[in-house]
Amino acid sequence: MANPLPLEAEVGVIGAGAMGAGIAQIAAQAGHRVHLFDTRMGATDQATTKIGEALVGLAAKGKLARADADAAIARIVPVHALGDLVSAKLVIEAIAEDLDVKRKLLRELEVVVVPEAILASNTSSLSITALAAGLKHPGRVVGMHFFNPAPVLPLVEVVSGLATRSETAAVVYETAKAWGKVPVHAASTPGFIVNRCARPFYAEALRLLAERAADPATLDAVMREAGGFRMGAFELMDMIGHDVNYAVTQSVFDANYGDRRYAPSLVQRALIDGGRLGRKVGKGFYDGVPVPEADAPSATEPAGPLTLHGEGPLATLLEAWLAARGIGFSRVPVSAWTGIKTPAIELRITDGRTAIHVAAETHQGELAVIDIPAGVPSPGKAPGLAIAFASSASPAARDNAVATLRACGWQPRELRDVPGLWAARTLAMLVNEGADAVSQGVCDEAGADTAMKLGTNWPAGPFEWLQRFGIEALVAVLDHLHATTRNERYRVSPLLQQRLWAQRFVTRR
Ligand code: NAI
Repeated sequence: MANPLPLEAEVGVIGAGAMGAGIAQIAAQAGHRVHLFDTRMGATDQATTKIGEALVGLAAKGKLARADADAAIARIVPVHALGDLVSAKLVIEAIAEDLDVKRKLLRELEVVVVPEAILASNTSSLSITALAAGLKHPGRVVGMHFFNPAPVLPLVEVVSGLATRSETAAVVYETAKAWGKVPVHAASTPGFIVNRCARPFYAEALRLLAERAADPATLDAVMREAGGFRMGAFELMDMIGHDVNYAVTQSVFDANYGDRRYAPSLVQRALIDGGRLGRKVGKGFYDGVPVPEADAPSATEPAGPLTLHGEGPLATLLEAWLAARGIGFSRVPVSAWTGIKTPAIELRITDGRTAIHVAAETHQGELAVIDIPAGVPSPGKAPGLAIAFASSASPAARDNAVATLRACGWQPRELRDVPGLWAARTLAMLVNEGADAVSQGVCDEAGADTAMKLGTNWPAGPFEWLQRFGIEALVAVLDHLHATTRNERYRVSPLLQQRLWAQRFVTRR
């Protein structure tokens, strides 16, 4: 195991903007002397003032001793020339996101610092391999990707390019840990871990909107209530800014030679073309329209005796859910489907087919598909559960379905009959992307879970969802989406295919 950078080692930070200031604050709080450099007049003074205010604010809230705040402020020294970084042992650049500008800086920097000094980049999208190419010592170049705001968010992606020495990445990893951060190793591939694995969260929401599954407010409500996400994708994209979110999507799409899995959305493009960039201009998907909140369930009794069909993780989840609410049901474990049956209607957990598709294949017209029950109850609120009815379902059966779901403790949210609804489709795609990242050596499973929970504030990581919902169900959703849409974006990751066959091999012996 490598040691972190010793505290007496000086740290250089280049670029005193939003990220550089935050990084300088973190390093100074950890105890390093920090030399902060920026080419823009007054930038370092603005940054040190901002850092000083932040540290004094922390001291006022009792989160930091005033003497420690003062000492950290005193350790940050603005410098006026690159040559002043001569004694730094770790230099982190957080300048403009431009490959040529960053490469020029690194070329100038490598003759300033000693050959052992580590050169780290906070880039969020550029290749570490490309940044290091042509340098005398490319093995010391590494990505140290903080998230905004850096002093607050714990995740740091430690990104290795082709030439990065493993010792370099190990020292940066241990240093990030010593600075109170949670580092994960990543290989330099487009989007690294977080910006890559988060794409389906936005992409599937945009596709659902394009398919007119529901309006943004309803879909956002489903994501919060049924998925436990703090914000739905549409309100989140409004907050991030559509220009920024679209640019990340476009760069990951281009970097993957136009792989349809990463294709940007026409819906988002239209917002940008119309100047609806999100909250920063006061309009995006929302014009300040309030988002509907979940109602408390109104019915107290299920509408008729219930049977619970199926076995496996999803059936177990349903069983535990009903049992915890004292709702009586009988079990039909050997079943072609998983879900709940009332005398009036079948409520099948979606396998990626539409309700009318299943109804036509099973000659059962009184049918609806419900989403994977991913929601976690919060006090006084029923988790949402998306539902879509087959067009053949009668009004009485529909009423029965809604009453039953309410009585079982969910807030039903009706979507149009789109394949995979929201949770099944989106979570299967998030798991698939995480699995692809692991099968391509970008990160390990624990790294993917940690990165997604800390980098995006998600309620769980892809491999935790895989464990919870089961590989059979998630792969079925992807396969049916693939068959229905004929879109290669839903192709199943080799890692999931391997796992599925391994699981079937064991269970069928
Ligand atoms: P910013 O625009 O706030 O700050 C960049 C600073 O770098 C400016 O003060 C500019 O004067 C200075 N600069 C530009 N070229 C320079 C050079 N050659 N030498 C010295 N200083 C130079 O940008 P921000 O948002 O802080 O981003 C910086 C880097 O961090 C980029 O690579 C960005 O992709 C990355 N990043 C940004 C995040 C964000 O949410 N803003 C999150 C994670 C990474």
